[in-house]
Parts: sequence; structure tokens; C-alpha cells
Amino acid sequence: DLNVPLKNKKILDDSKIKAIIPTIDFLRNKKGKIILLSHLGRPKKRTSEFSLKFVGQEMEKILAQEIIFLTNPFNLSSKKKIENLKAGEIVLLENLRFYKGELNDDLSFAKRLAELGDIFVNDAFAVSHRQQASVHNISKFIPSFAGLLMQKEIKYLSKLLKNPLQPYVVLLGGVKLATKVKLIENLLPKVNKILIGGAMANVFLKAKGLEIGKSFLDEREIKDAKNFLKSEKIILPDDFLTSLSLDFADNLKMKDFDKIQEEEIILDIGPKTILKYSEILKKAKTILWNGPMGKIEIKEFTYGSLMLGRLIASLSSGKAFTVCGGGETVEILKKTKMFFYIDFISTGGGAMLNFLSGNEMPGLKYLKE
Ligand code: 3PG
Repeated sequence: DLNVPLKNKKILDDSKIKAIIPTIDFLRNKKGKIILLSHLGRPKKRTSEFSLKFVGQEMEKILAQEIIFLTNPFNLSSKKKIENLKAGEIVLLENLRFYKGELNDDLSFAKRLAELGDIFVNDAFAVSHRQQASVHNISKFIPSFAGLLMQKEIKYLSKLLKNPLQPYVVLLGGVKLATKVKLIENLLPKVNKILIGGAMANVFLKAKGLEIGKSFLDEREIKDAKNFLKSEKIILPDDFLTSLSLDFADNLKMKDFDKIQEEEIILDIGPKTILKYSEILKKAKTILWNGPMGKIEIKEFTYGSLMLGRLIASLSSGKAFTVCGGGETVEILKKTKMFFYIDFISTGGGAMLNFLSGNEMPGLKYLKE
């Protein structure tokens, strides 16, 4: 999965590239000829903005090796280049999502991909929840194995599902409860507590009949929130940082959960919540964190996430087994400057949620270790 965040053709975060280097090194050392398959973004049509060319150039620097980029992987000259590859050489194919067959998990497209090589190595955990040709149907035509990153992801994330050390505490934030319903259902029997933050907390307040002012709300989620509130394991914030508009300078206030006014917007957790959640996290032996506690696009609303992120980092490597994942969670963890203490940071966002929800992952179905 080379689906890295890009802005103006610049890579904002190269961790997905670095995460697959061990597998590339393993294959280079075994004198393999390497063909890299990936997607980038969700392109509607073929445009340079979504080309993997820039990612290839970045990889060249990281690997200190030339990467042969193939704009049209299936034409004759590309096929010749692949046939003539020497041991250890690397080819990168253009964004596979430029092809309809990739998104449709088309069998003949998957076969065309499979015909380019002898062995398929899936090291793209982060996209393995998608039923697409290069992660799913390709395995029907070629011996398929889990790469080293894939094995690591499965090993660490499985520890959160099978016999996790107790107390097991999950810190869950972000905007939409809907994307985490299955995750909460699957984890509730295994965990000690689920601490709720982010805009997701609003729907729980609403489900309790409380005022949330002009804060984000998806009414369709209220039913699920009501159901989850029956469990004593679901813990809600005691207070929030609010504003009168999304402009942070507009009357910031610390408010108890039952004192939110009609005109206010909830934008971060408050100090009482940080303290309460910290006490619970400090006792944990297993911690999973996904989703920020506030609207982290605006600096003023990053502090809840930064403080709990720092705490989780400081509890790592010994006191508790800590796992974090999700684009925004990793982004805020990096800002703590302590992210390297975390025991495992998943490269998966949606894929991690799917795996931990107990869903079948199309990309893992046919793999051997
Ligand atoms: C990701 O970044 O989560 C993966 O690369 C999957 O991308 P997608 O959500 O566009 O399928």
C-alpha cells in the first residue's frame, strides 16, 4: 500500500513506504525481481495528481536504488522490461485504480496482473479490507504469501482480540460512530472500558437527552448510542472545550457535559475528562487508541489528544501493551514527538477497524505465511 498522503505532489508522510522496506530487502536479498503494485487515492480518471511516479521517486531515495516506473504496465514495451529484469531490480506499476478492473475485482484483470510474476506477496494490510483485484482475486492465479509487514500487523492486532492482558482499555474518538459500531460490538466483551471522545461523543450525549448545541450530530446514530449506553464499560467525557464558531478565537469555554448551551459547539475534551481518562489508562495493561479527541485540524483543539497521546506513549514499552492506528491518530501522535514509544502503530485505518471488528478481510483470505 503506497497510498501515502500527498500535497502538491509532495509526500506528507512516508511511513507506509518505510514500512514495506523489510519485505523489499528480503526479496532483494533472495535475488527476487520485484514488481510493486499499489493504488494511490481514489481517482475518478487518470490524472498526474494521482500518479505513483512521485512515490516511486521518493522510494528511489529511501532504497538508494533505481525504480523502473511503468506508466502502461500491460503494453509490449513494459512486458519486455519486466521479462528482462535482473535479480534485485524493482519495477513500480502506475496507480492500479486507473483501471476499472482493479476496483471491480475483475477476474481477467487480476489474471493479467498475476501473469506479470511468479509469486504474489501481499504486504498491503492497509488495503486488505477492500475486495479489489490486486489484493483479492490475484491470489486465485498465483501462489500468494503474506509479506513481513502483513505478518507483523496480524501478529500485533491479534493480541488485541485473543487473550489480551487485562485491564484492557480502548480510547475511541473521531467523528462518526457509524464507522465504529461493529468494532465496539466486537470489543465490548473483551475490554474493561471504552473511553469515548471526539465528535463521536456528541451522539452519546444526545442519546442521554442532553443539549449539544450546534455540535456535529448524525441523528441516525442515536439508536446505536442508546444501545451502547446500556453497558457500564462505555465511559463518556465529563467536560468539553467549546466555542461559538469553528473560529477558535470565538469565546473558548470549558463546560461540564450537562451545561452546553444552544449556541455552543463542542470541539475538544476538557481537563476533568483528561484527568479521568488518564487515571483509567494508567491502570491498563492493554491500550488501543483510534480517533482523535477533538477537532485536531485547529491547534486549539488538539490538546486533549496530545495529552492522552503523550500519556499512552509514556505507558508503552513495559507498563502496558499499546497499539494505535488511523490517519488522524497517527498524525497527532507524531506531534507528541513520542510516537516511537508506542508498541505498535498500524499502517491501517479502515483496515485496522475492519480487522478488529472481526470482519473477513478479502486480502487475507488466500494468503500463506
Ligand atoms: C488507506 O489509506 O486506508 C488505504 O490505502 C485504503 O485506501 P481506500 O480507503 O481508498 O481504499
